[in-house]
Amino acid sequence: MKLVLLLVVLGTISAEVQDLSRKMFTFPQSSNTAHVKLNPAKLDYNAVTVCHRSITDLERDHAIFSLSTPSQDNGFLTFWKNANREIQPHIKNARVEYKGWDYKLNKWHSICTTWDSENGLVQIWVDGIPSIRKFSISGAISGAVKVVLGQDQDNHGGGFDVNQSFVGMITDVHMWDHILSSCDIQNYMGEMNFTPGNVLNWKALDFEIVGKVLIEDKPACHSTSVFLG
Ligand SMILES: *[C@@H]1O[C@H](CO)[C@@H](O)[C@H](O)[C@H]1NC(C)=O
Repeated sequence: MKLVLLLVVLGTISAEVQDLSRKMFTFPQSSNTAHVKLNPAKLDYNAVTVCHRSITDLERDHAIFSLSTPSQDNGFLTFWKNANREIQPHIKNARVEYKGWDYKLNKWHSICTTWDSENGLVQIWVDGIPSIRKFSISGAISGAVKVVLGQDQDNHGGGFDVNQSFVGMITDVHMWDHILSSCDIQNYMGEMNFTPGNVLNWKALDFEIVGKVLIEDKPACHSTSVFLG
C-alpha cells in the first residue's frame, strides 16, 4: 500500500516547472520517440503568438513546434518543408506556405508565428523580418491541447514520424494567447526584455522529457544577435 502511494506521488511530480533561462533542449539524434511535452498554463485561444529559437543541420522536413487538439493533429504547428524550402505554419490543419527565407543550416533562427482567430490571418517573423500576412482559418482553438517539441504529432500526443523529427537545439519557447506587437516581437528576436508567454513561459516551463533529450547551457553569444547590428 505504501509503495503504491509513493509511486502515485512520484508520478505526479515527474512533470516539473523550471526556469530554463540560458538553457536549451538538445535533441541529439533522429527518432520517433524522443520529445519534450510542454504543459500550457491556459487553454482556449482566440489569438496566438508562438516564438522559439532553434538550430539544426537537417536537410529534410522537420517540426519545430507541434500543438495538437483532439480533432486536429496540426492545431498549431511550425514546420520546415524541405523539398519546397518553405516555413509552413499550420493552424487547425490549415497550412500556409512561406518561401524565400534564409533558413540556413548550422545557424540559430528566431521564429515567431502570430494568428488571429477573428480574421484568420497568419504572419511569421524570421530573424527579425516579418512575412506578409496570409489567411489560414478563423475560429478559436478550444479544448485540450498537447504541445510537443522534437516531434510532429500525427495524432493527439503521438503518431511521431522519424523523418519529421527534430535534431538540433531549441530554446526560448514562449506562447501567448494574444498577438504581440511588432516591438515586442523585435525585442524577442533581439533577446531584449519582453513579457514572457502567458501560455508557455521558458522562464517557468512546465515540461516533461521523454527519451533522449538533454537540457544544456545555451552558448553565451550566438548568431541570432547578428541582425541587430
Ligand atoms: C525515412 O526516410 C528514409 C530515407 O528516405 C526511408 O528509407 C524510411 O523508410 C523512412 N521511414 C519512415 C518511417 O517513413
